[in-house]
Amino acid sequence: MTEREHSDRPVRLLLVDDEAHFRDAIARRLEKRGFTVSKAPDGGTALEILEKDPIDVVVTDVKMPGMDGIELLGRIKDLHPEIEVLLLTGHAALDDGVAGIKAGAFDYLTKPIELEQLAGKIRHAHDKILREEEKRREAEFRRQVEEQMIVTERLASLGTLSTGMAHEINNPLAIIKESAGWLSMILDKPEMADMPRRSDFRKGLEKITDGVERARRITHQLLGGVQKRSETIVDVDLKDLAAESTELVAREAANKGVEIVHQIEPDARRIRTDPYALRQALINLVNNAVQATQSGTVAIAARRAGGAIEIQVRDTGPGIPAEYRKKIFEPFFTTKDPGKGTGLGLYVTRNILEKLGGGIEVESSVGKGTTFTISLPVAEPTGADGRNKRNPR
Ligand SMILES: Nc1ncnc2c1ncn2[C@@H]1O[C@H](COP(=O)(O)OP(=O)(O)OP(=O)(O)O)[C@@H](O)[C@H]1O
Ligand SMILES: [Mg+2]
Repeated sequence: MTEREHSDRPVRLLLVDDEAHFRDAIARRLEKRGFTVSKAPDGGTALEILEKDPIDVVVTDVKMPGMDGIELLGRIKDLHPEIEVLLLTGHAALDDGVAGIKAGAFDYLTKPIELEQLAGKIRHAHDKILREEEKRREAEFRRQVEEQMIVTERLASLGTLSTGMAHEINNPLAIIKESAGWLSMILDKPEMADMPRRSDFRKGLEKITDGVERARRITHQLLGGVQKRSETIVDVDLKDLAAESTELVAREAANKGVEIVHQIEPDARRIRTDPYALRQALINLVNNAVQATQSGTVAIAARRAGGAIEIQVRDTGPGIPAEYRKKIFEPFFTTKDPGKGTGLGLYVTRNILEKLGGGIEVESSVGKGTTFTISLPVAEPTGADGRNKRNPR
């Protein structure tokens, strides 16, 4: 809402007084001056009205049977701190007014009241409300900007981190891999044929090579989300790609009693896209699904949806609570134990899919499971000249 809309809106008043005559007369005269006035004969009724109607300012008599004006003021300040309260005190009851101000009243007037004075104080109280609203809006805006800055800073540090990792980790990894290859060549030499425990050495070297491969996949994954890599757009068979994407977690899934099923519909099998990027995205989703699920099913499904292909990764895991759902795509958001998850998987996945011209959405129901839905445009298959004709209908 803009400032103008606020100030143009009539001030909404609630007038509380046990004397019906006085209440009605004042209400009429205030309405003539452009205020919107509700009326209540006692504190209890006033609180009921405040529960259901939007009110800016309450004008209340102090001396009332049952709940008096000071008590009502206390209740209002507890329940609706944004509402301003004006007290009407008896002629000889200055103490009431002072006590009221201490308890948070905006101001007080002594009876018999002067209508112009009352209207003036109501307007002042309303101005204060508008100023407070403006302050709250500014604070909220600042909070949002700061939040955005934190995300931007995280992204910047992610970029730095990734490039740093490429140098710091990929280089030693290459040295390890090369050395393992070299040692394995030596093992193959005829003079090594009688070396004791040769096959143990061979096994050890294979483990080193596997480990290095795995570590390189991790650094590539991180770099893939940040660095621009030249795309290789080709005809991809989703059935093969789905099989490759679940290969890495197949053993973990089997150990936990999680069944992995593939449901690729025939008309959704072929897609023109970057297979490396899409595989990386699918691996991330399948990994998350298998990790989250304790005995159940993880399904990877694909179907045609108009001009797009929809790929779903569904699981029967614990689901994602609503308060996390909007955060899971942020970099470094993870609920896994320190050292277990980077919180980069979904962030990288979304980046990849956006680069491929698609998107990703999540639906989740706590206790039932989670479905990630990828949508990718279907591009025209390669023409006779072998060139890549993309047709984003
Ligand atoms: N299928 C799922 N079921 C339940 N929670 C999920 C699922 N997928 C993601 N999440 C939640 O989203 C968070 C972020 O996922 P993301 O893949 O980005 O990072 P991560 O899995 O924690 O770390 P990493 O990908 O590095 O292993 C997870 O920590 C988890 O809380
Ligand atoms: Mg993950």
